Amino acid sequence: MLSQKIEEICNRQVEREGYSFILYLAMASWAETRGYPGIARWLYAQADEEKMHMLKFIAYINERGGRAVIPTFRKPPEEYESVQKLFTEVLKHEQFITGSIHEIVERCLEEKDYTTHNWVQWFVTEQIEEESSVMDILDKLNLVGEKNMYMFDRDIFGLRSEAEPEG
Ligand code: FEO
Repeated sequence: MLSQKIEEICNRQVEREGYSFILYLAMASWAETRGYPGIARWLYAQADEEKMHMLKFIAYINERGGRAVIPTFRKPPEEYESVQKLFTEVLKHEQFITGSIHEIVERCLEEKDYTTHNWVQWFVTEQIEEESSVMDILDKLNLVGEKNMYMFDRDIFGLRSEAEPEG
């Protein structure tokens, strides 16, 4: 049975993972309409992963005797100045999510909830990968520069298809 404090912080994470889902959808739609199918594909796949993260939290809260609450989500931005700016925002957002997962770890230790502490380790590891894949993309972007967006878009298209079999 989850304590109230753990249930609250897990529900906060339902909102944050859900917002990540719609944020990346908004970004994907922006990229698609700007003629970047590769970037859009990467972001749609990323959005799917965020939806899965949200569902994991919902299932866990309900399984442990809590009640997952489905929140309303604020509207994500519609416009992005450039592809570079967009991926800088993705990285900032992922760093925020990492901090948020770490706060759950801290709360579990305070509450002596070693079960949730163990369960949430999957997200601790996942965040390392999430941040590192976005940092790789930003490195690539810095190398190719704004003028070679066509090449970059083709490149990132391949990136996601390689990543897809592992989900
Ligand atoms: Fe679910 Fe990208 O963090």
